[in-house]
Amino acid sequence: MPELPRDLGELDLADPRTFREHDQYEIWRRLRREAPVFWNAPRGGNSGFWALTKYDDVVAVYKDAENYSSERGNVLTTLLAGGDSAVGRMLAVTDGKRHQDLRNVLLKAFSPRALAYVAERVRANTRDRVRAGLDLGTCDFAADVAEKIPINTISDLLGVPDGDRDLLLRLTKTALSSDTESDDPEEAAEESLMARNEILLYFDDLVAERRAKPREDVISTLVQAVVDGRPVSPDDVVFNCYSLIIGGDETSRLTMIGMVPALSANPDQWAALKSGEVSVQSAVEEILRWVSPAMHFGRTAVRDVTVRGQEIAAGDIVTLWNSAANRDEDVFTDAERLDLARTPNRHASFGYGPHFCLGAYLGRTEIGAMLEALRDLVDEMHITAEPERLHSNLLSGITSLQVKLTPRSSN
Ligand code: HEM
Repeated sequence: MPELPRDLGELDLADPRTFREHDQYEIWRRLRREAPVFWNAPRGGNSGFWALTKYDDVVAVYKDAENYSSERGNVLTTLLAGGDSAVGRMLAVTDGKRHQDLRNVLLKAFSPRALAYVAERVRANTRDRVRAGLDLGTCDFAADVAEKIPINTISDLLGVPDGDRDLLLRLTKTALSSDTESDDPEEAAEESLMARNEILLYFDDLVAERRAKPREDVISTLVQAVVDGRPVSPDDVVFNCYSLIIGGDETSRLTMIGMVPALSANPDQWAALKSGEVSVQSAVEEILRWVSPAMHFGRTAVRDVTVRGQEIAAGDIVTLWNSAANRDEDVFTDAERLDLARTPNRHASFGYGPHFCLGAYLGRTEIGAMLEALRDLVDEMHITAEPERLHSNLLSGITSLQVKLTPRSSN
């Protein structure tokens, strides 16, 4: 990979090509050290933005809903476009009381108790997929094993019929720009917008069905919910279904895929997992820190603020780089080392504060189920070809991973 420019001002963190041309961790090391409150200069008609890479700064902004708002978007795509059409309606881009009320409705559907049945299905399904990978001998871990686990989980929760899940998976990948036909950022953005609209239209129909005939699923819970004395409007239900699909599919999938190279490159850690020396619970947290599938989230400063002595003006976009915070050497001992037993491990992968990931329990369940299935069923994992990575400014991970899996003899 080419070296980073001497002048960090040449870097554009909004351009996905930056993460194809450079090792992201090299970028984060330099930024944490030389420009922890980095001004990403305006480019191609887009405004500039701040990028925070130190753990303490990232966490402080996540927690500070007084000074920073999510209502002008919470990812670079929408922040740079000047806003998100779902503001005040979709959980992630709603602030204040409305956010809290809506979140309370959803939290009931996402409590560990409510998810017990889904969690059981996830475990069984994950073991089946790992067995299928073992049967193949050499498989593409992304396509043959991990591909459908998260989409099936969220679809179970939302009540999406089996026959529609492949379509939703394809649309979700395109919407998040990880599976576009095009290398051109503008074309990719166009494709992604069309996919988003298709997802919304899809849920329009499903929400209408559930309104007419509620069942035992999250969509039915939402259509029957009352927030602030009024029912949640059908459009708002649609936006929140969209956000659950978008938020819950790719992040979990990329983490499951990313654990394979992490474990195979660290045989001591793989051995410690297999022998039971480290718990699955602590391994889940380290894998989340290590993979950091959601690279950034963002906010808009609502008043003039100061971060590390740097003045940030009201209205400025402030991006929080989880992938950089999670390797901050001032917080994590041997931050560049995979240590499945790491404690404490307060990684920033699920964010912090009022918007802390709603699906964290579900995500952890899925990642834990995959670690357990690999631990119990697989003896060796040998990567047989260079993994294909996705190149995005939002998601980090692998889209194709050829791996030879050898079964544990006790199976
Ligand atoms: C919020 C990461 C899995 C649904 C977030 C945020 C992060 C995150 C960092 C905070 C966004 C912000 O502050 O602007 C992840 C990661 C996951 C994961 C790394 C898996 C490894 C899931 C799953 C679901 C989900 C499985 C649902 C099925 C959501 C929702 C929000 C959210 C609805 C918005 C919460 C709010 O604004 O109150 N996620 N997520 N996520 N996540 Fe996740």
